[in-house]
Amino acid sequence: MTANKKLLMLPGDGIGPEVSAVVSRVIDWFAKRRQVSFDVSDGLVGGASYDKHGTPLTDETLADAMTADAVLFGAIGGPKWDTIDFSLRPERALLKLRKEMGLFANLRPAVVFPALADASSLKPELVSGLDLMIVRELTGGIYFGEPRGIEDLGWGERRGFNTLEYTTKEIRRVGRVAFELARKRGNRVCSVDKSNVLESTLLWREEMTKLGEKEFPDVELSHMLADNAAMQLVRDPKQFDVMVTTNMFGDILSDCAAMLTGSLGMLPSASLGAEENGRIPALYEPVHGSAPDIAGKDMANPVAMLSSFSMMLRYSFDLQEDADLIDNAISALLSSGLRTADIMQEGKAKVSTSVLTDAMIRELDKQAA
Ligand code: IPM
Ligand code: MG
Repeated sequence: MTANKKLLMLPGDGIGPEVSAVVSRVIDWFAKRRQVSFDVSDGLVGGASYDKHGTPLTDETLADAMTADAVLFGAIGGPKWDTIDFSLRPERALLKLRKEMGLFANLRPAVVFPALADASSLKPELVSGLDLMIVRELTGGIYFGEPRGIEDLGWGERRGFNTLEYTTKEIRRVGRVAFELARKRGNRVCSVDKSNVLESTLLWREEMTKLGEKEFPDVELSHMLADNAAMQLVRDPKQFDVMVTTNMFGDILSDCAAMLTGSLGMLPSASLGAEENGRIPALYEPVHGSAPDIAGKDMANPVAMLSSFSMMLRYSFDLQEDADLIDNAISALLSSGLRTADIMQEGKAKVSTSVLTDAMIRELDKQAA
């Protein structure tokens, strides 16, 4: 029996709890069929936590996250909390977790399943076989820079402001993650910035260049301006292997990359921190949001959440075979023609979250037999 691993589940809001429940069933399956078990605890986060405790993230939940071996995060937010004070909005919980846990590297793979190549809004030949990894800087840049705020100028005018800043250390550490990943894949890194306009990202480009020359001369490094990168992602996404970029550009470009795969409901992510005493802080979450419009309707696509769990098995627990089981089961389900509403195509079978989950468990049985 593999030693128990401390896993904290934070389902959150909207469809978060529904897709988390799917993973819980898979976790039960692993305990029974693979002798892989986790010491699972859960907590409230986002709007759910605000409703109960008046804050989107309590100190207790934060402390649990800091000591867990991995956190599996669902989704947060919704119209219900759009009007509360900015500092108490559900999103602040996620940003605080990222900052406090030191999760500076956000890995967002965009992989097109063969069965879904024609669910993309792009022509199938442009996306089939796509396997792109976006590495987004996650604890710096304009998301966290100070000063920030909204101030009253006094004559009926107000001024809103944020600060975009990067230090060499912040750039290098996320750069290393990207270069190291590239070595295990296609050996190419494209660093995305806006160095023609913003000094902070001119520094980004200079530091990436130095890092490449010094520590990763074997990896091919190119640079691209963010606006061009957005255009290239929809023109010819397969030109990319690993893309590394700032917090805000990564936020934007990763939604774009996600959609190339057919639906936001397909994309997982891993957020990783620096290794300390053999432990790497880690949080896994689907890229899709809380999708309040379909919450509670048994319609949510659980694939991104399942793939996030699979990434967790790979990156936090080195359970490669078990992660393969999940990835192969997802692939088989899609090939068999089952589709949630978001990826429904003509001639396929539209199913609910629960029907898809039952099928997933049967497919895992089959894969493991
Ligand atoms: C994401 C989300 C978050 C972000 C929000 C919910 C704070 O869009 O993870 O991409 O902007 O980072
Ligand atoms: Mg986003």
